[in-house]
Amino acid sequence: MSIEKLMQPFTVGIDLENARMKNPQKSLVRKASDMKGHYKNAAALDKIITGGNPLHYEVQETPVPEKYGELMYCISILQPGLVGDECFMTKGHYHTIPETAEIYLCLKGEGFMMMKTSDGKCDYQKMSRGHMVYVPPYWAHRSINTGKEELVSFCVYQGDAGHNYGDIETEGFPKRVFLRGGKIVVE
Ligand code: F6R
Ligand code: ZN
Repeated sequence: MSIEKLMQPFTVGIDLENARMKNPQKSLVRKASDMKGHYKNAAALDKIITGGNPLHYEVQETPVPEKYGELMYCISILQPGLVGDECFMTKGHYHTIPETAEIYLCLKGEGFMMMKTSDGKCDYQKMSRGHMVYVPPYWAHRSINTGKEELVSFCVYQGDAGHNYGDIETEGFPKRVFLRGGKIVVE
């Protein structure tokens, strides 16, 4: 590779106190209306949408080229709340290149990383500040906020991994997480 094509080293500020990226170049926002079809209680989600369609989660990025060898990184901020009695969660996805792993370092909040493979294996790991969850290749993944504050993670994955939302939307995750009688229930 010629020297002109080399990326220049750079630094990005991470505000660890507030669990935010400083001056992100890009921000992906998903509102309640973007979550249709994902929760058990569709009527409860509709009520949240008609009640103001609030922010559900946000991903802050300073993108790098979507190429093999690069490391994409972002901060994922999932709001706390319930749809009926089901805890707020992200859509979840496989990577388009399924043999790419991902690291989630939790910076704030409480929750789970829910994972499944296309042949039906399911696993979930606890998330809380200082826990690093390793999502191995081939595992679809979704974060779930079981707490009262935002669930925030710093994520790192291969630059060209891509996001495949379609397959997991069709399959669904085998387990859901609820808050019932003050207790977190996985079923
Ligand atoms: C990237 C990744 C996270 C999620 C983010 C939002 O590969 O896993 O940055 O993209 O938590 O979740 P989704 O993409 O499922 O809407
Ligand atoms: Zn991912």
